[in-house]
Amino acid sequence: MAEFTLPKNSVLTQGKTYPAPAGTKQIRRFEIYRWDPETGANPRIDVYELDANQCGNKVLDAIIKIKNDIDSTLAFRRSCREGVCGSCSMNVNGKNTLACTKSINDFPDVIKIYPLPHLQVIKDLVPDMSSFFNQYAEIKPWLSTKTASPERERLQNKTDRDKLDGLYDCILCACCSTSCPSYWWNSDKFFGPAVLLQAYRWLVDSRDEKTEERLSQLDDALPLYRCHTIMNCTDTCPKGLNPAKAIAEIKKLMVERQKAT
Ligand code: SF4
Ligand code: SF4
Ligand code: FES
Repeated sequence: MAEFTLPKNSVLTQGKTYPAPAGTKQIRRFEIYRWDPETGANPRIDVYELDANQCGNKVLDAIIKIKNDIDSTLAFRRSCREGVCGSCSMNVNGKNTLACTKSINDFPDVIKIYPLPHLQVIKDLVPDMSSFFNQYAEIKPWLSTKTASPERERLQNKTDRDKLDGLYDCILCACCSTSCPSYWWNSDKFFGPAVLLQAYRWLVDSRDEKTEERLSQLDDALPLYRCHTIMNCTDTCPKGLNPAKAIAEIKKLMVERQKAT
């Protein structure tokens, strides 16, 4: 049987524990992945105990409290705190989610927090999203037209506008793509569910006039057809969107396109 050994510098070690003050009645324990490239040390898990009554209700509230009151070296991303910007995505107790919308009370007493999986880590909970956003740029995520601009705006009727629901709402948090096994192994070529959902958003926009160019870009085994309908993406999306369905719809458009030629 094959044996696999992790490189020595990737083995997780046990870090520091910051206990709750004596007498704390309701303790919540947070086990958080830490890695600082400047020290050259292995990644570690630090443990922080908080008084649940002195902390807001969301996972992000706890992380901010840890940074403000216990350990200012903890690195993470956040901006809106409203589930809108997509920057606080991380893996909490094994599932990718938004720390700012996820309630601490949805978890057992111990909450384990890691960066999004299968991305390079820049520091602690901050992953390198460069390749994800480079792929997003590849699909040209803007309205593309060939006809002359009208005097006023390009109109869209209500039925066509409704087709964008569940697509324009994507906040590019990458929870779906980084939970997709196909994306883990082929993220250099497969676009992944988030970028494909965005690609579909422009394919179905009645005002866009580059449908053929967009389909032609995706008509390759790698960017699109590496999706094997495992459905992790849809199960994970913290906004309740369905990237797997969007991918299936693109595949249908491909079939229709092939029939027409
Ligand atoms: S349905 Fe496709 S994109 Fe979604 S997780 Fe599965 S393989 Fe990945
Ligand atoms: S589809 Fe959902 S999980 Fe994926 S990037 Fe968009 S909002 Fe995030
Ligand atoms: S901080 Fe903006 S989505 Fe969480």
